[in-house]
Amino acid sequence: MFELLDAAKAFIEGSIKPDSVLCDFTMGNGHDTEYLCRKVPQGKVYAFDIQAGAVENTRARLEAAGITNAVLIHDSHSECEKYVAEEISAGMFNLGYLPGSGNKNIHTMRESTMPAVNSAIKLLKKGGVLVISVYPGHAEGKLEGEMLCEALSKLDKKYYCVTNLRLINSPDSPFIIAVEKYDK
Ligand SMILES: C[S@@+](CC[C@H](N)C(=O)[O-])C[C@H]1O[C@@H](n2cnc3c(N)ncnc32)[C@H](O)[C@@H]1O
Repeated sequence: MFELLDAAKAFIEGSIKPDSVLCDFTMGNGHDTEYLCRKVPQGKVYAFDIQAGAVENTRARLEAAGITNAVLIHDSHSECEKYVAEEISAGMFNLGYLPGSGNKNIHTMRESTMPAVNSAIKLLKKGGVLVISVYPGHAEGKLEGEMLCEALSKLDKKYYCVTNLRLINSPDSPFIIAVEKYDK
């Protein structure tokens, strides 16, 4: 059975070394940030969210786990190039709204998702991978998915491999787009 998160992790794991720099572009409650931090004990994870509550939840989660290699940034992922000084080996976007927050009105939006994904691709080092989880079951998620598939299908195949992994008999189910930057 297809498990979205397992598939997302499978895409990025090969590109990560213990001292890599990574980005979680949608921090939320910090599950993905914690997972990424554990992958790079000698490296660093930048994590972004526009909601103060998400940053607080993630800070508490990491403190409880004794994790100290994250840089938590309360700002939009579209501003990531202002904060991330290094090239990154992998990045994750988990689009949509904060699970458990009760406020489904705060969610990722096309106008910031597209510049953020473009910046993330610029930050990727050769051999790096960006994985985006898309939720087409709500209106904005569907439009985000269409926008991303159209834009990313135009990336030059000489430099990038772009994969779209989705359930073809369940079009509203979450799906993945992975952007791999060739190591050459
Ligand atoms: C599906 S949740 C992420 C789940 C998270 N990765 C986890 O492990 O719990 C999506 C998150 O994206 C955040 N978000 C929405 N717009 C954003 C933006 N422009 N920049 C950064 N984060 C944003 C939301 O606040 C929400 O917390």
